[in-house]
Amino acid sequence: PDLAQIYNLNDFEFVARYTMNKIAWAYYLSGCDDEITLRENHLAFHRVFFKPKVLVDVTNVDLRTKMLGTEVELPFYITATALGKLGHPEGERVLARSAGKQGVIQMIPTLASCLFDEIVDESLPDQTQWFQLYVNKDRKVCREIVEHAERRGMKGLFITVDAPQLGRREKDMRSKNFEDLSHVQGDDEEADRSQGAARAILSFIDTALQWSDLEWFRSITKMPLVLKGVQRIDDALKADEMGIDGIVLSNHGGRQLEFSPPPLELLIELMPILKKRGLKMEVYLDGGVRRATDVLKALCLGAKGVGIGRPFLYAMSTYGDEGVYKAIQVLRDEMIMCMRLMGATKISDLDESMIDVRRREVV
Ligand code: FNR
Repeated sequence: PDLAQIYNLNDFEFVARYTMNKIAWAYYLSGCDDEITLRENHLAFHRVFFKPKVLVDVTNVDLRTKMLGTEVELPFYITATALGKLGHPEGERVLARSAGKQGVIQMIPTLASCLFDEIVDESLPDQTQWFQLYVNKDRKVCREIVEHAERRGMKGLFITVDAPQLGRREKDMRSKNFEDLSHVQGDDEEADRSQGAARAILSFIDTALQWSDLEWFRSITKMPLVLKGVQRIDDALKADEMGIDGIVLSNHGGRQLEFSPPPLELLIELMPILKKRGLKMEVYLDGGVRRATDVLKALCLGAKGVGIGRPFLYAMSTYGDEGVYKAIQVLRDEMIMCMRLMGATKISDLDESMIDVRRREVV
């Protein structure tokens, strides 16, 4: 269908099902095991309601905010997703261009299928990008990657902590007849290609990574350090105590541990504790965000911003640059409308007084 017929981010997923190459589609869509967590990520948003204010002058709505010190036009970012070239020949470069045009941050994945430098070269001079790191067992290699990212201007280092090993993504595994992946990622001798696209490329990840390693990262870079994939309250508190700059509450879009909690639920529990203790770090969330209302709920509950993954992959795969641009526009327009209807005109108006989380207990 024509892009004009796309009204929301879910439409991109629907269209992708019919237009995308099956291997790419299965890799992007797949959650782990029975996809309960994948589903719950979405459902968690459905249990939270707004407390809209009326009779507020909402003529002008300003969606700008700050994330890790960077001024951004919109309170969401394109999160790191591997293997962009499965969906589009230009892969992550497409995402870089559209993000840049609209003042949205892109998080570049370690497992991008374009070279890191190609993606950075595609960005505008004042465009902000972050870097997602899968920690390599070989710390010398790891250090080179981090230093290179910093030299190329990355404004945040997001260390993925929820993936010492890859979850079982059976949709992806079923499409195991996929051809050689070397066109999207460097060849890896140890790779077991019968396990799906994801597993074939991940043998370098350090399964021994632990809290005590974080000091080393602090010592090798000045980029803000963020842990991506925090899944329990005391880990979040530990990160804050250690002086980590931020966390992303995330279960990897329901692709890792089945029955890892929905990030929104964690946020609801975490923020009051962090505020009482005098919050220092920034808290982000990803997983299941598809509507402006989802974004605004997370912000009301104290998130600095939210990451969105799959919808941009689907938009890119079917429609290229225009699709990703449209996806951002759609969310932006929805967000302005919702802010007006909520009686909020700027991001700082969004707080816990605007949200009702009590219905979670009723369900
Ligand atoms: C991911 N995600 C991910 N995360 C990460 O830290 N490194 C990675 O390489 C990838 N790769 C990846 C590939 C694909 C196809 C998906 C769908 C996801 C997880 C991602 O950053 C994020 O946590 C989720 O995608 C958020 O959920 P939604 O927005 O896709 O529901």
